[in-house]
Amino acid sequence: STAAHADTGTERPSVVAHRGASAYAPENTLAAVDKADALGFDWVENDVQRTRDGVLVVIHDDSLARTTDVERLFPRRAPWKVRDFTAAEIARLDAGSWFGARYAGARVPTLKQYMKRVSRNHQKLVLEIKNPALYPGIERETLKVLGNEGWLAPSHVRNRLVVQSFSTNSVRTVHTLRPDIKTGFLGTPKVWELPAYARFADQVNSSHTTISLGYVAALHGLEGPHGRPLEMLTWTVDTAAGARRAAGLGVDGVITNKPDVVRAALLRG
Ligand code: G3P
Ligand code: CA
Repeated sequence: STAAHADTGTERPSVVAHRGASAYAPENTLAAVDKADALGFDWVENDVQRTRDGVLVVIHDDSLARTTDVERLFPRRAPWKVRDFTAAEIARLDAGSWFGARYAGARVPTLKQYMKRVSRNHQKLVLEIKNPALYPGIERETLKVLGNEGWLAPSHVRNRLVVQSFSTNSVRTVHTLRPDIKTGFLGTPKVWELPAYARFADQVNSSHTTISLGYVAALHGLEGPHGRPLEMLTWTVDTAAGARRAAGLGVDGVITNKPDVVRAALLRG
């Protein structure tokens, strides 16, 4: 990070800015990763999907409607699915005004633009492949962009990158294509199912509402594909009490829209 808490690489649990610092800047924009950086957070999370013409973009919903002005610009294109718009069309959208006037003009970044910004900021990335069933081949395409931007170099793979998905198939595909990459499965498998996940996922990243001390301990008792204990990044924890509870359960990371709130709570213990 270029900011005050530069490279708190040993922070435990680590604090991950969800969709960037998305309580304070429009989610999944360059402004949101810059905000995370300005607050002193190197880890950010994002969501990757694909345009009609095959360009990877960073956006959470499968529709453009909630986080852009697409309805105003393209009133006849309901339900405004990401996959029905070209990259050139999406580039015209305002992805900031819905959040606040001072963010007017923020764009839906392409994954390439996004990677250039997190590289510039010396950040670390938990990249989520979102809705992969809608986008056959998105795993290979995501890895191609990561490679082009230098993120498959050993130093990055070792310390700066996790690729996660709610889709078991997608996580397994990423692991098969690039076994060196750290992967995460989003969900809460039954404890007896965890050994199967441990064959291709280094992390099991669960909603904070679903986990217990026993569950996190069970995870930690298993070795992932790289011979290290499975890890848990829990989401989405935006309160001090929630952060303290998660830390008490022994999680490895907390994914939050309010990284400053979480860090302050963890420092106070
Ligand atoms: O990174 C975990 C979290 O982002 C998963 O849920 O819906 O915010 O992508 P969602
Ligand atoms: Ca996500």
